[in-house]
Amino acid sequence: MCGICGVVGHRPATPIVFEGLRRLEYRGYDSAGIATVEHGKLSRCRAAGKLDNLKHALEKTPLSGTTGIGHTRWATHGAPTTQNAHPHHAGQVTIVHNGIIENFAALKQRLETKGRSFETETDSEAVAHLLDDYIQQGLSPKDAAFATIKQLQGAYAIAMIFEGHDNLLIGARHGAPLAVGYGEGEMFLGSDSLALAPLSNQISYLEDGDWCVLTRDHVEIFDAHGDVVHRPIQTTSLTTGQIGKDGYRHFMEKELHEHPVAIGQTLQRITDSVTRRIALPPMPFDVATLPRVTITACGSAFYAGMVGRYWLEELARLPIDIDVASELRYRNPPQPNHGLALLISQSGETADTLGVLRELKAAGQHVVSVLNVEHSTMGRESDLVLGMVAGPEISVASTKAFTAQLSVLAALTIDFARQRGLIDEAKERELTDSLLDLPSHAMEVLGLFDQIRGMARVIAQARDILYLGRGICMPIAQEGALKLKEISYIHAEAYAAGELKHGPISLIDPSVPVVAIAPSTILFEKTLSNLQEARARGGRILVFTDAKGAEQLKDIAEHIIILPDVNAFVAPILYTIPVQILAYEVALLKGTDVDQPRNLAKSVTVE
Ligand code: F6R
Repeated sequence: MCGICGVVGHRPATPIVFEGLRRLEYRGYDSAGIATVEHGKLSRCRAAGKLDNLKHALEKTPLSGTTGIGHTRWATHGAPTTQNAHPHHAGQVTIVHNGIIENFAALKQRLETKGRSFETETDSEAVAHLLDDYIQQGLSPKDAAFATIKQLQGAYAIAMIFEGHDNLLIGARHGAPLAVGYGEGEMFLGSDSLALAPLSNQISYLEDGDWCVLTRDHVEIFDAHGDVVHRPIQTTSLTTGQIGKDGYRHFMEKELHEHPVAIGQTLQRITDSVTRRIALPPMPFDVATLPRVTITACGSAFYAGMVGRYWLEELARLPIDIDVASELRYRNPPQPNHGLALLISQSGETADTLGVLRELKAAGQHVVSVLNVEHSTMGRESDLVLGMVAGPEISVASTKAFTAQLSVLAALTIDFARQRGLIDEAKERELTDSLLDLPSHAMEVLGLFDQIRGMARVIAQARDILYLGRGICMPIAQEGALKLKEISYIHAEAYAAGELKHGPISLIDPSVPVVAIAPSTILFEKTLSNLQEARARGGRILVFTDAKGAEQLKDIAEHIIILPDVNAFVAPILYTIPVQILAYEVALLKGTDVDQPRNLAKSVTVE
């Protein structure tokens, strides 16, 4: 959701900022731009569309200078044109902004009455004019920056450079992430550690309300009151190697192949290597007397939460409330005293989920978050983080983070069921072993790409697809439908298979293929009947099942993908992989932009 990169240093800034934007492009790719300051003079170059367009523009209009800022945009206010692209310039300042300035209309009106004219339809331009207005009143860049951010309402991460100041870069954050990277004679700003990875492994994450003043040799961080604060410098282990495609055509293809490693590393982190028992960190509450769990997340992470709900209800016998964050945030359900808020997020920055975190914390709930980016805002604001070890996920469509999330939730279920005295040692062993065997089964599934491509050919020709699943497989059907929509632009709906006859069955004809997630161990006979009903009406049936299920489905299904036999407990994790591969293969056939599908961005930091 917009990426920001900045440097104040001794080397040419443009290539540094441009490569930073490459690593941030997954956050938005509607337009991009860079600005630098050299011999006190500000210059900028912008282009609509992907970063390659900016590259061509920079060839025609090179920017020199050792201090610069850059931006890759996911449009909120104003069309994705060059005119609306960041950096925004006014008088003696140039800025980039990620977030939404909610009071921009009022600010703009006020500034216009002072004779300022705006060039763009963006909310961000108001920040540039406001900042310049303070400079024109005689304030120093530092004082002008502080005066400006005090006027802003909404969410922002901002980087600013100033005419006449080659050795100055100022940043500010509130509700959108911004980190400082420390170098030798150069300092950096970036939306996340991916932007900063090859530049610096010494990183400070700004807190909400913080702002910072960077020169080549010095970093000073202030809080919202203007007092100097010290934010810890963390050493990141992220390497450039982790953020390349490694010979795969797309990040999504690479990340699909990383399912076994993501599951394996995640489980390794939370399993005692000697006893092979799940060993989560102690919970900041008594699990035995926990009154209720509220689960929330967005998109794919929400479907992971839905699977978690089935597990926690069935095995840990916990009452669960679950909703997408954008709804839960405004629903205001009654909360029990000292309940658990369980949040799930790959990025740890999703605005809706973060909003719920704050609401539920204020309502006295214990907050436990399942996160891939542990240093994220949610990580810092949670009582406990259960980290997945999925590694960077660059493809906008989430893949390996989803199975890593499920692995953590499965382990949490075993842990809670044990602490609540609901499973004996044998059952615990059975469930844990089935989890620990998953990486090797996931490897087997990666051998099915060719078979899944056959199924993809049917889907790629359709306009509408129905995904069906029952029980704990229902969220996997939803994940399949979401992934297909997201990257192939084919309309897909997921239904609980039993709901088919209550309406959607009227859609069924040979042009609407039906994809079923049907392991023989989970409500199989019921799903089979529902598929027979669909087949009887001319539906083309495509199924993911195991060998036993295949035997019973062979007369009605046109395509059957046979997955390894696994314990029903872990089936949702395993069945996710082929469902995501299917979406990928369809997208390849459709020729869409797999890693950066239209209109989307990763890490949605606006509501
Ligand atoms: C789908 C997808 C999104 C994210 C959602 C939440 O492929 O990637 O639906 O799952 O935006 O993002 P996080 O997990 O970062 O909170």
